[in-house]
Amino acid sequence: MRVAVYSAKPYDRTFLEAANANAGHRLVFLEARLSVETVALAEDAEAVCVFVNDAADAATLARLSRQGVRLVALRCAGFNNVDLAAARDRGLTVARVPAYSPHAVAEHTVALILALNRKIHRAYNRVREGNFALDGLLGFDLNGKTVGIVGTGGIGAVVARILHGFGCRLIAHDPRPDPACTVLGVRYAGLDELFAESDVVTLHCPLTPATHHLVDDAMLARAKPGLMLINTGRGALVDTRAVIAALKSGALGSLGLDVYEEEADLFFEDLSGRVLRDDVFARLQTFPNVLITGHQAFFTREALSAIAETTIANITAFEAQGRALHEVSVERLA
Ligand code: NAI
Repeated sequence: MRVAVYSAKPYDRTFLEAANANAGHRLVFLEARLSVETVALAEDAEAVCVFVNDAADAATLARLSRQGVRLVALRCAGFNNVDLAAARDRGLTVARVPAYSPHAVAEHTVALILALNRKIHRAYNRVREGNFALDGLLGFDLNGKTVGIVGTGGIGAVVARILHGFGCRLIAHDPRPDPACTVLGVRYAGLDELFAESDVVTLHCPLTPATHHLVDDAMLARAKPGLMLINTGRGALVDTRAVIAALKSGALGSLGLDVYEEEADLFFEDLSGRVLRDDVFARLQTFPNVLITGHQAFFTREALSAIAETTIANITAFEAQGRALHEVSVERLA
């Protein structure tokens, strides 16, 4: 198939070309992000391959469909950036990579917890400047602490297993509890209880209308004072203005983010020579107890290789049978 690969970075090209070596699809790599302004770049394509911040909204999908595109192949797990109802109405198939390496994201999540707790980001800078004082670097033992996991799917379940190894007490919230987590000793509870009891809360549910701003003023008011909040899920699970207010009051003890509500205008690009225009993001960066990474939780060799393999397999299956391996549709979600 002729495939227009949007938001293509050098590493996407490397892994997709390797996975495509035997499949023989014609991949056209585009630096541009998919939007209504850039659909024309996919003029000859039968499929588009997109990532987390490509906007497959109704208008864009309508244009793609008119141009002859039949498949939207997401090279990620989340699909909140695709208007699935519009895709169905336009006869477009949407496929994703449901699981590539839950370990990549889970391990990065634990990296954020450990770094924030032991202030590794601050310690690194201090030591480089010859400052070996320990004031301000005090952490806590994770062993024996309560960690709340929101969403125990592929990633959340691995987080549970890792933190079980640290000796944490685990509470989870998920409409579909995982029996393997229960066997591990994870206790399922309502969100209010989870926030009230947890020393650390980590978010691993998908972004849907039901989970949008799941962490807001009201939820933070119910949280245990000094809570550490970690979000490696999707930015809009958290109301950023609410967490800033909670950080200022001290109610929220620390915050680790790999995703941000307005990340589409920031992440994956080198903006170091430009003026930062997002005042909310700028405020977040002023807190010593906030640690932000730019959506890199997935970024391991194993994950990129698996993403590329599954993406090519989705395209190949769609070409051969008219159905991708891992389709996502409004009907399936219902
Ligand atoms: P998954 O589909 O295996 O698991 C999601 C879990 O969330 C399911 O068990 C589901 O029942 C649960 N869930 C649904 N609604 C919920 C709610 N209202 N409250 C609590 N739980 C709820 O997905 P996976 O692979 O574990 O990924 C989770 C999310 O992580 C993805 O949707 C994506 O947004 C994000 N992600 C972030 C990455 C990064 O690089 N930062 C990379 C990959 C995924």
